[in-house]
Order: sequence, then C-alpha cells, then structure tokens
Amino acid sequence: MRISDTVAARLKELGVELRQGISLADETSLAIGGTTDEILLRRYDTIPEVMRLLANEHIPHRFLGGGTNVLIVDGELPWVVMHLPTAHPGMRVEGNAAYVDASADLGGMVTFCAKHDLGGMEGLIGVPGSVGGALRMNAGAYGTQIGPHVREVELYRAATGEIETLRGGDIRFDYRHTSFAPDDVMLRVKLELPSNPFKEILAGIKVCNEKRRSSQPLNQKSAGCIFKNPPGGSAGRMIDELGLKGHRVGDAMVSDRHANFFVNTGHASSADMLKLIDEVRERVRSAYGIELENEVIVWRN
Ligand code: EPU
Repeated sequence: MRISDTVAARLKELGVELRQGISLADETSLAIGGTTDEILLRRYDTIPEVMRLLANEHIPHRFLGGGTNVLIVDGELPWVVMHLPTAHPGMRVEGNAAYVDASADLGGMVTFCAKHDLGGMEGLIGVPGSVGGALRMNAGAYGTQIGPHVREVELYRAATGEIETLRGGDIRFDYRHTSFAPDDVMLRVKLELPSNPFKEILAGIKVCNEKRRSSQPLNQKSAGCIFKNPPGGSAGRMIDELGLKGHRVGDAMVSDRHANFFVNTGHASSADMLKLIDEVRERVRSAYGIELENEVIVWRN
C-alpha cells in the first residue's frame, strides 16, 4: 500500500520517517513477504497522533516487531507497516529492575541484564526477535518465559488511542499467548529479575546456547517453530515420526534438523510455505487426530 503525498507530508510535519516501497522479505527471518510503505516511529509520543491520522485517512496498518515469528504474503500488501527503529534502544538497570525499550533485541537484553548480575532469563538467550514481540507472544524456551518477570508494560492501547502503563499482574501470560489486544503496541517494559553473579548466568546461557545449536537449524531462514505444541505433546516429534523432515513445497522445507522448523531454502514464496504448513497439519491430523495450531503469525491480505 502506498501512502499519498498529503499523508506523507503530514507524517513529515510530525517528524515521522516514511520508507516507501520496501520489501518485507528483507525485514523477516523467513525472508518472505511483499512490498509496502513503512512508518518508522522514532518518538513514541507521536504514536497516538500517527494512529489518528491513519484512522482518519482509512489507511490499514499493521505493526511489525523483530519479524522473526511472522509469515507475510507476497505481492503488493494492502496495509502499511509500522515499526520501532531498533538502533540504540533504551536499557537500564536499577536494583533488581530492568527498564527496556520494546525495540531492543531480546538476546541483547538478556546479555545486558546478565552483565548487571540480573538473571532468570537464560533460556531466552537464543530466541530471535524483539523484546516487544517476546512480550506479545510470551516468548519462552528451556523452562523460561518472559511473562512472570514483567512488572509493568508501557504500550499504545488501541482501545483508548493513548499511551498507557499496565501492571504486570493485570496482564495474562499463557503459553505463547497474552491478554494484549492484537493492535496494542508494546513500547517499554519493566522487569524484575533475580540477582545472580554474571559468571553463573553466563554458564546457564552457554548451556542453553549449546542445546539450541544441537537441535535447531540456526543458520537457516526460519520463523522458529511453526506450530504450537499441543497439550502434553510435541509437534516436532509428531512431524518427525511421520518422516516429514526434508519434505518440501518449492523452496519451503521441513527442516531436517528440527521438524517443527520450516525453512526457506532459497526463494520460497508465501504460497509455498502456506501449502507446506497445510500439508503437514493435514498429515498430523489424519495420523494423530490432532489439529495443530499455528505458532507463527500469518499475515494474509
Ligand atoms: N523432537 C523430535 N524430532 C524433532 C524435533 C523434536 O523427535 O525433529 C523431540 C525431541 O527429541 C524432544 C521433543 O521432541 O524429545 C521436544 O523437542 P524440543 O526439546 O526441541 O522442544 P520443542 O517442544 O520442539 C519448544 C519450543 C521452542 C523452544 C524449545 C526449547 C514450542 C512450539 N517450541 O520446542 O520454541 O526453543 O522448546 O525450549 O513451544 C519457538 O517458539 O519458535 C520455538 C522454537
């Protein structure tokens, strides 16, 4: 979707940067996604105004975080994309509290806190993506989830059109799901973390890194796990048992390392990846009677 010159001029007045005709394939870890205009929100206080402008002009929009857990359709997209710039995110520590901008890299945040002798998040070290995306999805790995550490979230609330602060206790964090509204925009978080010497945290980080390296296709283009694990089960194990590792549709392939990772081995289209997801879901349904739910977020037009 292309923003008109009038709206572009208004955005400029607000000091908001517009990047025109960008390919979202360049902004996602799957390297799949079509073309649109992108609004870069450098100053969070401009967000309510920008949102009002888009609403008044009937411009559909979506919010892109780190781009590591999303599958976006190809072609000219019918919405503009909003994004928080990732350079120099705010991060500071005060006692056992860490205050971090949503645009920060999740692993960067874990390391920063570790250097200040704050642990508890070792398991999240290799989860790719932004802190905002981790909050929205309640990212987790190796027994750690971000949710239990959250004390406050500053966010743009779509329901009120304002920037608000929610207390951690008022947010529900479930398995890869939270009570945030789909169009809420995470801006900053306050976490409370247990004190632990850097050396010990580092040892935990190394263990998690090693486990991840040995079981996941880290150097390939993927969006992490495609399906949520069903209660008490493992999507990866079921897909593996069905002999589907290496199964492909075009350049979209079930990883031969971890069967719940689907990788883009070259120039996979969104249609290839969606077909692969449907085929695997169907195979699991007919073999196990279980309907796997997407873990990856799919943006269709
Ligand atoms: N397994 C297989 N074959 C495979 C993959 C896994 O047999 O191809 C077996 C493993 O041997 C193990 C079991 O399945 O016995 C579970 O596998 P794993 O420990 O790799 O964990 P997972 O349940 O597949 C979850 C998260 C990952 C997270 C890891 C580590 C989900 C959907 N996935 O994977 O998160 O990194 O645990 O904690 O909850 C993600 O969210 O994108 C993600 C990758």
